[in-house]
Amino acid sequence: MGISRRFFLGAGAFALSLPSRLRATTASDSSFDPWIEISAANLRHNVAEVARRVAPRPILAVIKNNGYGLGVVNVARLLEPAAAVSGFAVVKLAEAVALREAGIRKPVLLMGPFDEAGLEEAVARDVMPMVYTSIGDQLDRVAARQGRPIPLHVCVDTGIGRVGVPHAQAAPLIRDLVSRRSVRLEGVMMTFAEDPAFDREQLARFQSLCASLGGDGIRVGKRHAASSFGLFQHPDAFLDMVRPGMAIYGMYSEPKFRRAGVLDLRPAVSLKARVIYVKPLRAGESAGYNRAYVAERDVWVATLPVGHADGLPRVAAKGGRVRIGGSLYPLIASVSASHSIVEIGPEPRVAVGDVATLFDAQEGSRPEDLAAACGSSVYDLTMHLNPLLPRRVL
Ligand SMILES: Cc1ncc(COP(=O)(O)O)c(C=O)c1O
Repeated sequence: MGISRRFFLGAGAFALSLPSRLRATTASDSSFDPWIEISAANLRHNVAEVARRVAPRPILAVIKNNGYGLGVVNVARLLEPAAAVSGFAVVKLAEAVALREAGIRKPVLLMGPFDEAGLEEAVARDVMPMVYTSIGDQLDRVAARQGRPIPLHVCVDTGIGRVGVPHAQAAPLIRDLVSRRSVRLEGVMMTFAEDPAFDREQLARFQSLCASLGGDGIRVGKRHAASSFGLFQHPDAFLDMVRPGMAIYGMYSEPKFRRAGVLDLRPAVSLKARVIYVKPLRAGESAGYNRAYVAERDVWVATLPVGHADGLPRVAAKGGRVRIGGSLYPLIASVSASHSIVEIGPEPRVAVGDVATLFDAQEGSRPEDLAAACGSSVYDLTMHLNPLLPRRVL
């Protein structure tokens, strides 16, 4: 914290009174708005950890959904210098375009859908499409207009049933694509259903497809399958390249992965806000919509200007805790769009202006801790962070 409470309590105009290092970075942010911190050091550490685990294979860093909440351009800028990161994968064309407009040079794979105009834009921006349907003619037309072959990856559905050409139909599609001068096949990929027994079957299907194409002299490029789950569970599926997201941001998607000791991950994202109001409730008084909380005894509560519109899940009021001044306090009542309420206890131990950490890299307030405490998931916590919140790269 480093700021005295008296400073805040005595201040007439909080924003003007904040030390300059704590003031918001733009005039349009209030210093009391929640913000997101991104730890460049932790991000780099996590990439180094993944690289060590999969060496010498490259990492295709999944930075979709606004870089898992950290900001797609922030993450790409921080990771581009890492030799182990061979490229980036996103799902929205707009994110791929934003990367190029920000000057990102490494390969970008667009794993999401596109129409012919979108394909043209992707190719013009040097973004590789992920293909799984018979769009050979479209590829021919766009390649002719752009005057160059289109590097792409083919997605094979080995059982997840989401996107991807069904594995039994993949060979003819791939044969058709590689027969075209408009196409340069850079890779083939699949996604695990993350069901241990079935994953084995999926991998066998994928390997048999790749082997049979290889037997026909078809070069499939880089074979990739392993997301963060695969980094822990499927060393046999590291293949030619890995494709993690969450591990790069320093979060264990399952508690058992932390205990496994395979990767030392450090959360690279924090969500913080400042206490905006502290007041006592008498026994019997309530807080939150529908009187979700009723004080059993006299108690102090603090209001935070962070709610579900910022990305704090509504369920966080059902067991989540917030760190203020080194102590953890329970979120209570209900999380509304822009506010949440914290129970402080019998003494007013926090003050307006104190930093409240919803999650960070410290034990007890890690994203996994908040997710576990309230029955949420780290994917919900990070990917739902409001893109408009200020992001500070530290
Ligand atoms: C196709 C694909 N590959 C890789 C990933 C990365 O997954 P994770 O964040 O679990 O590592 C995702 C994310 O859901 C994905 O959709």
